[in-house]
Amino acid sequence: MSVNRFPVSVAPMMDWTDRHCRYFLRQLAPRVRLYTEMITTAALIHGARERLLAYDRQEHPLAIQLGGSEPQELAFCAALAQAAGYDEVNLNVGCPSDRVQSGRFGACLMLEPARVADCVRAMREAVTVPVTVKCRIGVDQRDSYAELAEFVAGLLDAGLRHLVVHARKAWLQGLSPRQNRDIPPLRYEQVYRLKLDFPTLEVTLNGGIADVPAIARHLRQVDGVMLGRAAYHDPWLLVAAQSLFEAPGAPRRSRAQVVAAMLPYVEAQLQRGTRLQQITRHMLDLFQGLPGARAWRRYLSENAHRDTAGPEVLRQALARVPAETGAAATRTLAG
Ligand SMILES: Cc1cc2nc3c(=O)[nH]c(=O)nc-3n(C[C@H](O)[C@H](O)[C@H](O)COP(=O)(O)O)c2cc1C
Repeated sequence: MSVNRFPVSVAPMMDWTDRHCRYFLRQLAPRVRLYTEMITTAALIHGARERLLAYDRQEHPLAIQLGGSEPQELAFCAALAQAAGYDEVNLNVGCPSDRVQSGRFGACLMLEPARVADCVRAMREAVTVPVTVKCRIGVDQRDSYAELAEFVAGLLDAGLRHLVVHARKAWLQGLSPRQNRDIPPLRYEQVYRLKLDFPTLEVTLNGGIADVPAIARHLRQVDGVMLGRAAYHDPWLLVAAQSLFEAPGAPRRSRAQVVAAMLPYVEAQLQRGTRLQQITRHMLDLFQGLPGARAWRRYLSENAHRDTAGPEVLRQALARVPAETGAAATRTLAG
């Protein structure tokens, strides 16, 4: 069913999927599609544009996620992103935070389908890279399948070819963003149905996907899966996900090799003034579920924040992990 060259992606996550996190995830999974944190049009237009757009070439394939609701501003920012070399421009229509709502974008845009369609149209006119949307299955009382389908039909009319759907609705009042990622129930069947009703639309499913069997199951119904928290808290899941698409016996990095691959990056970043902890905070769960996981995490937590901390901290943390754990390049699918 998949029309994607590689149908697994890692979700945009504020404060989590920064460039250091993405570089680390890329060392694990060469082909998974990565998304930036949401970057608002206001920040790109008025803020530290160069820093906001900066990334390492190794991060490709890389999508930028924009937050905004003014078609011309979004078009301008999409063009900036394309010029910076991003492979895809994604519009956030799923975030329910108060800050985002006060800017009238994010999930509350699901109440303004015509505006979202105008945004997509304007962005598509400004760039040649794919323009995509990430949305929920509904917000507040506007949560029927008919309303979702109407929303999606408008986007198709505007030329949208690829939609990412977090398969739960959002409540715009009363729940924190975190609660809005857990409390509204997951309704995968709504997203499966979208794929049936809009077969030309590339549909990526997001929400609560946490293991390889689930990835394989969803990919029988939709074109792609997007992993958020599970990929962050157990990054080796991406390696296991990749195994679904690789020839058996394809060469694979061990965890120790992943750490080694990070060292030149760490050195280059430290020279530019990045602190070690800004990078290692994303690597704490590399050994999740394996012997040595606690010793690794603890050593990094206790040492990476020091002013003088350098790449040796990573080497010393690795030395606390049993050699066979570091060398293991596979994991059981159940693990
Ligand atoms: C810390 C955190 C930050 C997030 N930030 C964003 C964001 O910037 N843009 C966005 O579209 N979704 C954001 N999300 C939502 C995720 O992209 C994803 O839709 C959600 O976590 C559900 O997927 P999961 O169950 O696989 O985690 C965030 C989620 C988390 C946990």
